[in-house]
Amino acid sequence: MADDQSLRDRLRALPVFPGELPRFDTDATPAGPLVLLVEWLEGAIAAGVLQPHAMSLATATTSGVPSNRTLLLKDVDAEAVWFASLSTGPKGVDLAANPRVALALYWREQGRQIRITGDAEPGPRDVSARDFLQRTPSARARAIAGSQSEPVADFDAHLAPALALVEADPQFAPESWVAYRVIPSSVEFWQAERERDQVRLRYRKTGATWTKEILWP
Ligand SMILES: Cc1cc2nc3c(=O)[nH]c(=O)nc-3n(C[C@H](O)[C@H](O)[C@H](O)COP(=O)(O)O)c2cc1C
Repeated sequence: MADDQSLRDRLRALPVFPGELPRFDTDATPAGPLVLLVEWLEGAIAAGVLQPHAMSLATATTSGVPSNRTLLLKDVDAEAVWFASLSTGPKGVDLAANPRVALALYWREQGRQIRITGDAEPGPRDVSARDFLQRTPSARARAIAGSQSEPVADFDAHLAPALALVEADPQFAPESWVAYRVIPSSVEFWQAERERDQVRLRYRKTGATWTKEILWP
């Protein structure tokens, strides 16, 4: 911890949540968590939450070395939560060896957090290609040009041929770009309330059905 008393004091004094927070009626929740996730997401979009689709993804190697990064949520369907990335970078390598993941969404404007644990698997090839082709030409070129998360000495020298490729073949989508689906086994909804109270509802998959539990804060 920093040896700086005034920083500690200033951190402690920072406001955590705004005055107005949405209510979370746990008695009025649907049977499955992904329906509630979409309800909350629609509410966050309607309320103007900044980047409501930004979420953290934690992966781990088979020997348990964790890593975490921010990604964009690409879709939610009846079974899964989707994100897209390169299968050849560090997270892709983790996922190929160990599909267990944890996701977290946090909407500070609404005092809401959603935590998901589950298994990630590559989605169908056409979904991955469609996602890739919706990216801007320069984002596509960056994904093709180099090795994600590797050190790079001459960025432009790598990017130029990839940009030329994207321009010459606008339908090109590399195998390494993958839309992953995360099949959840547990989803927790966390709502801050006034006076730093909080309400937590966890859905846990038991066989084919979901069990709902209120968690002690
Ligand atoms: C707001 C935000 C959104 C991001 N979205 C993505 C994304 O959708 N896909 C992706 O591969 N990386 C995305 N990134 C970059 C990742 O956080 C990360 O730097 C990159 O994927 C390399 O991760 P890795 O080395 O763990 O494989 C995003 C970063 C931020 C801050």
